[in-house]
Amino acid sequence: MSMLTRRRLLSRAALSATAGATGTGLRVGGTAATAAVSGGLATGCDADTDPDTDPTGGPRGDLRFPTGFSWGAATSAYQVEGATKEDGRGESVWDTFSRTPGRTRNGDTGDIAADHYHRYADDLDLMRDLGLGSYRFSISWPRIQPDGTGTPNQRGLDFYRRLVDGLHERGISPMATLFHWDLPQTLQDAGGWENRDTAYRFAEYAEVLFRGLGDRVPVWLTINEPKTVVQNGYLHGHHAPGFQDPQAAYLVAHHLQLAHGLAVETLRATDSTARIGPALNLHPCYPADDSAEAAGASHLYDGYENRLYLDSILKGSYPADVLADLGPGSRMARGIRDGDLKTISAPIDLLAVQYYTPYYVTGTGGTVTRWPTSQADWQQIYPDGMYDILTRVTRDYGPVPLTVTENGLPQADTLSPDGTVDDAGRISFLRDHMAAAHRAVTDGVPLESYHVWSLLDNFEWAEGYDQRWGLVYVDYPTQRRVPKRSALWYREVIRANGL
Ligand code: FCB
Repeated sequence: MSMLTRRRLLSRAALSATAGATGTGLRVGGTAATAAVSGGLATGCDADTDPDTDPTGGPRGDLRFPTGFSWGAATSAYQVEGATKEDGRGESVWDTFSRTPGRTRNGDTGDIAADHYHRYADDLDLMRDLGLGSYRFSISWPRIQPDGTGTPNQRGLDFYRRLVDGLHERGISPMATLFHWDLPQTLQDAGGWENRDTAYRFAEYAEVLFRGLGDRVPVWLTINEPKTVVQNGYLHGHHAPGFQDPQAAYLVAHHLQLAHGLAVETLRATDSTARIGPALNLHPCYPADDSAEAAGASHLYDGYENRLYLDSILKGSYPADVLADLGPGSRMARGIRDGDLKTISAPIDLLAVQYYTPYYVTGTGGTVTRWPTSQADWQQIYPDGMYDILTRVTRDYGPVPLTVTENGLPQADTLSPDGTVDDAGRISFLRDHMAAAHRAVTDGVPLESYHVWSLLDNFEWAEGYDQRWGLVYVDYPTQRRVPKRSALWYREVIRANGL
């Protein structure tokens, strides 16, 4: 049984490292927070926490980040905006998927979500009050091009102009993701990401934004977590468009990366000085035991989880072991055309890393759980994984400026009668992961910013509203925002630029 076949049997693998050369895809000139990394990064990890310290206490100031390090929070359009039928917005695959009975928990949809489309000005004030230096959000393609192509919808563009201007007015730097999974349904009807043409439509859409907002957005992220679209959307079927088709899945992987590269080339063809890069969810993969079989299976697992996206973008080649596992006749292999990898590896300015969980891989290519999980049963809480993945990227791909664009955990947070939300577990989680990131910076990783997932409780895809990932509690019936204890703690971290 190939690894691919075996992986089909795995349940989540949703959120979703070993070649040598330095990253050829790095564009020099980014503002890395630290000096370039040296060859020998440490791999061992010490415990980050001081058990004698109250885990929910304020920062002690022991771990200071470099001057200029930026702290932020992240959201995505479909998860927070709501207003799915307003101002000319078209339908997206997530509208279709979430409205299909049985696809999401409780039949939840993003129709209202956190109503951010209407409440964005208050949310901007909230961000200012937290002291955020950076806000990562995504742009809804069907608001800009309701059918995925052609003349842009001015009202859609205006919304993001207001948002971006509001960020600047409050001294917060905008970081805009072009695609966070809400593909226009019209494009899906024409084959979606299985259709190579979608990558070219994406580049046109990107150009609309580069021209329409370009002077106001200093950092663009192309595709959010291509792997999650591949795995959840096309392997397991848990996400839109809800297919279970491994052959399609890896062709989609190629087209998503082609779309990324085309967007990078498109930006370079404008006179924009903005920076651009992909947003990849990376998972450190470890053998589950000492056997040679586990080592081999873990390496291939790493190929599917990490190298399939890192090697292509940063080295201009797909990992040979993954291509071999897929087989020479795979739809992906047949879909790669001359020049595609050159486009995919068009030099980037920064790499956005999203870290949630490690994988422990057995000799038969399965996975085991080694650490306590969060409310999301796929998420093992392992802060050292943050250190391992950041240092590994730098070691294997060269000193690409890095930003952490997602890290966080869900909890069943509740609003107490005194009007507060005590999410001590989130504070511990964030503190330990930030400490691991700090250790990576100390060891030479050029990490320039860190964004918590998420600013607000929101629509967590197939999990609907059950999982609360926000720093800020959203009381959905009233849409009232209540900063959780973690938000107040984070404000102090930002103020101290450290822990
Ligand atoms: C990531 C997604 C983000 C959110 C978090 C929990 O995979 O990019 O939208 O769902 O997981």
